[in-house]
Amino acid sequence: MTAAPLDRNRASLLHKVRYALRNPGKVAPYLRRSARDLGLRLRHRDHVSYYRAVMADDAARDPKAAVGSRNEERWLELGRMQFDYLVGHGLRPEHRLLEIGCGNLRAGWRFIDHLDAGGYYGIDISPDILIAAKETLSERRLQAKLPHLTLVRDLTFDFLPEGRFDVVHAHSVFSHSPIEVIDECLAHVGRVLAPGGFFDFTFDRTEGAEHHVLREDFYYRTETLVALAEKHGLSARFMADWEELPHGQSKIRVTVPERR
Ligand SMILES: C[S@@+](CC[C@H](N)C(=O)[O-])C[C@H]1O[C@@H](n2cnc3c(N)ncnc32)[C@H](O)[C@@H]1O
Repeated sequence: MTAAPLDRNRASLLHKVRYALRNPGKVAPYLRRSARDLGLRLRHRDHVSYYRAVMADDAARDPKAAVGSRNEERWLELGRMQFDYLVGHGLRPEHRLLEIGCGNLRAGWRFIDHLDAGGYYGIDISPDILIAAKETLSERRLQAKLPHLTLVRDLTFDFLPEGRFDVVHAHSVFSHSPIEVIDECLAHVGRVLAPGGFFDFTFDRTEGAEHHVLREDFYYRTETLVALAEKHGLSARFMADWEELPHGQSKIRVTVPERR
């Protein structure tokens, strides 16, 4: 994968014109997405309802593509990458894991398989993708692991117990989230983390101006997200070892500082 320059602003007209000239075949799909975006935005004022409608449309076509994988091979590869990373960072079968934006269990089925029964909790805003998640679960014959899959409309975790999760994981979720959604998540995630636990999330990183494309893809500076975590009393650090993997997004790990 060739790395894109980190100061590129994909929302700028200049970028769009250059991109269109280099990739003429992508112009028609982009125009279709723009038209869909306009229609959905008129019907859904808040971001979660809007993005739920995006997922409904995408998942009706192909749930694997809806979570960002162009084919089965890539879907398996992206799931394995997330799984291997967390196991390499100490995820053990007796741990409890909360996956925010679990999608159709691209990584989730591997976590479920690895963890003891009941140790996995997946939440998502999209009913359509959660139905696809249940299909993944039965295809992989993981019923006996009794994972929890729950539909949510916010990231306050108000229905979950305090200090419950050793690991909270969100892959390719904040890359589709405006700052208010990330702020809400960071304001509440500390409550559900177990002592010594951590929250890992990926994001689309820019070193130029922060921007978004069609309110579907958001680009943030590392310092913005680190400062947001700190505002909520959390510690945050950039995970340099994740950069070595062929993924394209960056990762931040958030922890609750020990009280002296
Ligand atoms: C690109 S997919 C990634 C899915 C999964 N994390 C993976 O790696 O396969 C993004 C997922 O996050 C969900 N999502 C987006 N915004 C969310 C939010 N605010 N809260 C919970 N889930 C969200 C979407 O419905 C979608 O299933």
